[in-house]
Amino acid sequence: ILAACGGGEETSGGSGGEGESGVQETTIKFSHVVAENTPKHQGALAMKEYIEKESDGKITVEIYPNSSLFGDQDEYQNLVSNNVQFIAPDLSKFVGNNPQFNVPSLPFMFDNDEEAIAFWDGEKGQEILSSLEGDGVLGLKMWPNGGKHVTNNERPIDSPDDFDGLKFRTQGGQVLEAIYSTLGAGSESIPFGELYTALDQGVVDGQENTFSNIESKKFDEVQKHMTVMNHTRVDYAIFTNTDFWEGLNEETKAIVEAGVEEGTKVAREEAISLNEKAYELLKERGEVEIIELTPEQVEVFRTELQPIYDEFEEEIGADVYEAAREAAG
Ligand code: LMR
Repeated sequence: ILAACGGGEETSGGSGGEGESGVQETTIKFSHVVAENTPKHQGALAMKEYIEKESDGKITVEIYPNSSLFGDQDEYQNLVSNNVQFIAPDLSKFVGNNPQFNVPSLPFMFDNDEEAIAFWDGEKGQEILSSLEGDGVLGLKMWPNGGKHVTNNERPIDSPDDFDGLKFRTQGGQVLEAIYSTLGAGSESIPFGELYTALDQGVVDGQENTFSNIESKKFDEVQKHMTVMNHTRVDYAIFTNTDFWEGLNEETKAIVEAGVEEGTKVAREEAISLNEKAYELLKERGEVEIIELTPEQVEVFRTELQPIYDEFEEEIGADVYEAAREAAG
């Protein structure tokens, strides 16, 4: 764990502070990979507005959407180096650091945002979010996006057999890989910023994502079929650099912390409505054929993917499964 700077004179994120008291003048960077009409960006905007207003403009928050500052491959390293002060990655992108970040990929674990939030706000979830402290990274609050759905260019999918021989892009992680291999498909992790082109050029046949990400990145332009699965999730948490955080004096930290709370509130509120709107837009645009599974068809997938729980129990932990199941009710 990196040493705390403790009420320092200057924030690591910006242009220097004003000593022990008073709000420090500083610039904070928040980088992310998704579009602007998404729950993550709306959360970041709410945070920016709150912090800039409450600090009377002494703190500036610069938001960089669409991988315009850093992408999936380098945002974490740049947070560790304090080149960016906030990121909110899909938690499944941290499985290399800790396999417990596979929780959003556990098939059919959570039915909705509320259940996922209950897990990440709970003791086990908080423990997992704290597990990057060795890198000097603090996990603050979970921000949901929503359930993921499968798109592809080859055929309408309504049963496990339909996956046979196809290749899917995933966000990464052993559990997502296992889902596709169980279904007889291949998978590859590709950065979000490169996904549209990868789909367009046929590098992969399909991908899984939330309605919001599919619609806002116009993946429907380069995909023919979409199956509403809700089998896995995109969930984020907002992470900051420990040195930056501990270097804020009390007054400054109080404003930034309240800004994170405000952003969390808005991101959580917006997730459901933005995904619903995105689904409506996808229907209206009519670019993809939409397949809604019957409850019986969902059960077939659930049964098919059940062995994945045994396969990963040791790596992820029976205690994590138990906490997740409890949150799922
Ligand atoms: C993806 O890579 O598909 C998503 O995790 C992107 C995001 O941040 O929502």
